[in-house]
Amino acid sequence: MHSVSSRPDIADHYTKGDLLTRIQAALRDDGVDPDAAGVAALAPYDQFHGRGLEVTEEIAGTLSVAPNDHLLDVGSGIGGPARYFAERFGCRVTGIDLTEEFCQVAQRLNALVGLEERVRIHQGDALAMPFEAASFDGVYSMNVSMNIADRAALYGEIRRVLKPGGWLVLSEIALGPGGPLDYPTPWAESADASFLTTPEQTAEDLRAGGFADITWRDTREEALAFGARSRAMVERGEKPPHRAVQMIHGDGAATMAANMNRGFAEEAILPIEVFCRKPG
Ligand SMILES: C[S@@+](CC[C@H](N)C(=O)[O-])C[C@H]1O[C@@H](n2cnc3c(N)ncnc32)[C@H](O)[C@@H]1O
Repeated sequence: MHSVSSRPDIADHYTKGDLLTRIQAALRDDGVDPDAAGVAALAPYDQFHGRGLEVTEEIAGTLSVAPNDHLLDVGSGIGGPARYFAERFGCRVTGIDLTEEFCQVAQRLNALVGLEERVRIHQGDALAMPFEAASFDGVYSMNVSMNIADRAALYGEIRRVLKPGGWLVLSEIALGPGGPLDYPTPWAESADASFLTTPEQTAEDLRAGGFADITWRDTREEALAFGARSRAMVERGEKPPHRAVQMIHGDGAATMAANMNRGFAEEAILPIEVFCRKPG
């Protein structure tokens, strides 16, 4: 039996406190009124996964989503991807996340951009979701599975809530052939809180979980290029496009990002995008 309280370690890792106040201060520093910020102004801070908005746009570009579709965002964080999908497609998005502060901030930001009706957030565990079977047209999850040891339970729960024929997209960090990976990373303080599988094992686990049409691609080259572009911007005294790791983790962020980027360079880890479908 899984419950929210069974994973306080995960919520602790992501909770530094005063997140909304810190986002508002960053927006002011960007010259944006924090009471009138739109989805685009929030994007440097609320897309909490590698390459940020670039990946969300990339994935959205592969999907066809109708305005009456209902999507599920598993591990929705502070809701940046959910607001982006809702705004781009005019659809409804439900997010679920373990971390209470993230859920509270997500709800405040939904209201700020006028999406509180179409983007709903639940605090809860992806391994025991409070949703009816076959309720979603599509499910996506970005940089979440690295916190989840029981992949069979995760994929089983996603399959349960997906409608027959519905799609699943995972954007995540997989185990690569190089290594070792140094910790902390943005998703885990230490190796014992990090659960990585190879891309091949991920595809195999999805197949065993009843998914079909499974394809995946390794986006390591894109991650390295994005890192180089961001470093060049910082050297020129500009703000990099993706500032969520710094926003969420504060002082620890630089070491986490350096460990992750070295992991990409040495192929200890691989960023991947996985696409599959629940048979109709
Ligand atoms: C790196 S953040 C990504 C947030 C969001 N997907 C995004 O891309 O902006 C990982 C998120 O996964 C959530 N998470 C980890 N394990 C979870 C679980 N078992 N159930 C629900 N959420 C979980 C964490 O609370 C955190 O918000």
